[in-house]
Amino acid sequence: MKKYLVIGNPIDHSLSPLIHNHWMEKYELTDSVYEKKKIKKKDLKEIVEQVRSGKIKGVNITVPFKKEIIDLLDNVKGDALLTQSVNTLHKAKNEVHGYNTDTEGFKKSLEDKSINYENKNIFILGAGGVTSSILKAFIETAKKIYITNRTKKKAEELKKHGDTLLTTLKREKEIIETIDWGKKPKVCDIIVNTTSVGLIKDQNLDLDFKDYENNKNALFYDLIYNPEETNFLKEAKLRGNKTMNGKIMFLRQAQIAFKIWTNISPEIDDEVIRLLD
Ligand code: ATR
Repeated sequence: MKKYLVIGNPIDHSLSPLIHNHWMEKYELTDSVYEKKKIKKKDLKEIVEQVRSGKIKGVNITVPFKKEIIDLLDNVKGDALLTQSVNTLHKAKNEVHGYNTDTEGFKKSLEDKSINYENKNIFILGAGGVTSSILKAFIETAKKIYITNRTKKKAEELKKHGDTLLTTLKREKEIIETIDWGKKPKVCDIIVNTTSVGLIKDQNLDLDFKDYENNKNALFYDLIYNPEETNFLKEAKLRGNKTMNGKIMFLRQAQIAFKIWTNISPEIDDEVIRLLD
């Protein structure tokens, strides 16, 4: 049996097994199975060893281990290195490689909805584990990126990371700005909620977006997809803004990971989208 895993803590809520097992069945990978496992930090080393020995074929990593895993890996390149966030492990040439499929998954989700995110003003809410992947998606092409976080220090650390990225990418330096929690830039094209607020039904961010009333061009994007419509999105819809939840990003990042492991790019069709309802 070829074993795949998603590891994290907590992990109960993860819908990755549902999606990957669906694709494994669809593409007749009958000797493959994908499970979830709640782990502690001290278990990470053993998991990496099991990938190296071939006992585990592939791993997805979720909160809070996406950064902590990096030091245990043989090879971390591309977005994984640039974001310092690894969500996929795969063995290649006897080495364990770490990938980040969140950034590409996020970009593809915008492209799927024909949303042009180049040369735009972006407002990122939060500075948690996934936020560096979202920042990386915008950093090559944004006009300006504003970051706000309840704990200001984390927003500032993220800006510092972003400034280093800008230098690496040889872009001008002044596009990232931190904003105090509760304040906001005057006009923004895309506003992304990367905080965990909304995961629990009826939780509220308590940010005031009144001036965005009737702005049909402003897109409010919540990475949360369960519940399908957070208050952040409900309020945006009532104001007349565009909205999008994290469902397609979740499927896109899973699709890229599946391709890394199996060389099959699984289809994102209505059937798999419905699995998340
Ligand atoms: P992870 O890294 O595991 O994604 P996290 O680091 O706890 O999770 O990040 C969760 C994000 O949601 C953080 O930006 C967090 O803000 P803080 O850095 O101030 O903790 C944000 N968040 C969680 N609960 C929040 C709340 N009630 N109000 C505002 N932001 C909140």
